[in-house]
Amino acid sequence: MSRYLLRGGRVIDPASGVDERRDLLIEEGVVASTGATLDEAGAEVIDVAGAVVAPGLVDLHTHVREPGREDEETIASASAAAAAGGYTAICTMPNTDPIADSAAIVEKVWALGREAGLVEVVAAGALSKGQRGEKMADIGEMVRSVARVRLFTDDGHGVQNSLFARRVMEYLVTFDAIYAEHCEDEALAAGGMMHEGERSMALGMRGIPSEAEELMAARDIALAKLTGCRLHLLHISTAGTAEIVRRARAEGVRVTAEATPHHFSLTDAELESYDPNAKVNPPLRTEEDRAAIVGALADGTIDAIATDHAPHALEEKDVEFQYAPPGMVGLETSLALTLTELVHPGHISLTRAIELLSVGPSRILGLPQGGPLTSGDPAHVVVFDPDGEWTVDPARLRSLCKNTPFVGRKLRGRVLHTFFAGRLTVRDGVVLAGELV
Ligand code: DOR
Repeated sequence: MSRYLLRGGRVIDPASGVDERRDLLIEEGVVASTGATLDEAGAEVIDVAGAVVAPGLVDLHTHVREPGREDEETIASASAAAAAGGYTAICTMPNTDPIADSAAIVEKVWALGREAGLVEVVAAGALSKGQRGEKMADIGEMVRSVARVRLFTDDGHGVQNSLFARRVMEYLVTFDAIYAEHCEDEALAAGGMMHEGERSMALGMRGIPSEAEELMAARDIALAKLTGCRLHLLHISTAGTAEIVRRARAEGVRVTAEATPHHFSLTDAELESYDPNAKVNPPLRTEEDRAAIVGALADGTIDAIATDHAPHALEEKDVEFQYAPPGMVGLETSLALTLTELVHPGHISLTRAIELLSVGPSRILGLPQGGPLTSGDPAHVVVFDPDGEWTVDPARLRSLCKNTPFVGRKLRGRVLHTFFAGRLTVRDGVVLAGELV
């Protein structure tokens, strides 16, 4: 295995409290040593002066379309997009076809991830059979499988039946597994297509009220208190949900939360163009909500930035707004959006950005990622230029789908190199082929 000496970068490693100019030697899959000036000792020297060296990014929320829609995204193509975005681990959502509700499917996802060999692929399992919210999925089997599933969700849908939610939590708690919710009361959402408010009225589109998210978040927090289950709230998008989470955490409830780059970067103003690529679930909200999400990312209420990477084929998105499926790709723009929208304007520090993109999500999943980058620790590392400018060009995205409303957007922050378990997966922004690990 190759040895690399990263020379002269700014090492930001929140897990060990480090933020300073240091060399880093990677050898045999681990960080062999760090120090002010290390000896080359036969290693390939990579000059990273001016760049940030940080633990590899971890995405809690990636939709791959394998099995079922390999034309939209395979585990290999999602892994390549993830590596290009600076990720060394992704947690795959179970709303595939068939749904990942049994050991057979999650084991397949896990095995295909190993075969691609570019990132750690952590399979999430469904809470209910077929994600229908009626019968429990084969949870115990998935926990004990080689995929060692620890996060369960019916993402794409919220669990509508409160008794079912309670029973699943009671079962999950015996494995100390995570109940992850897509908070949406479907009766209240009533087939809406965008955020309900002045803009939906002006545009004449049916809206989804904030309360559809907030009621379910509050219900789940009550049930997490009742059952003792670990609860994770996916893609929270409203000021009200952020406040509900803030209060629950102050009370000591075991709840964590994530927010997406599109919810901290965009508002429902985006919908004025009727661009189907801006259609997403939960919908883009108001400026007040966006600002509240930024505040909650800054003050520690939200633990992780998660992409909700949701590829959709061009022919499915290139239709009238109402017929387009919700979702946008996000693995390759998340770091740059975090830097451009949160760090450069001074809302959060670079260290906090690394916490949100790496340390926090890694802790939730219990992965050996997120640092520390000290001697003997696995070398999952991203190197990025925090100031490097680039323009989002669909033709350059590694994901098989290009559905992003950020096309043409100039962003500041560029991934240079990614190391997965000591192996270079991205060099100078170019993804290298994976191999069996
Ligand atoms: O916008 C979304 N797209 N939200 C979801 O919850 C599901 C996702 C998808 O699978 O396309």
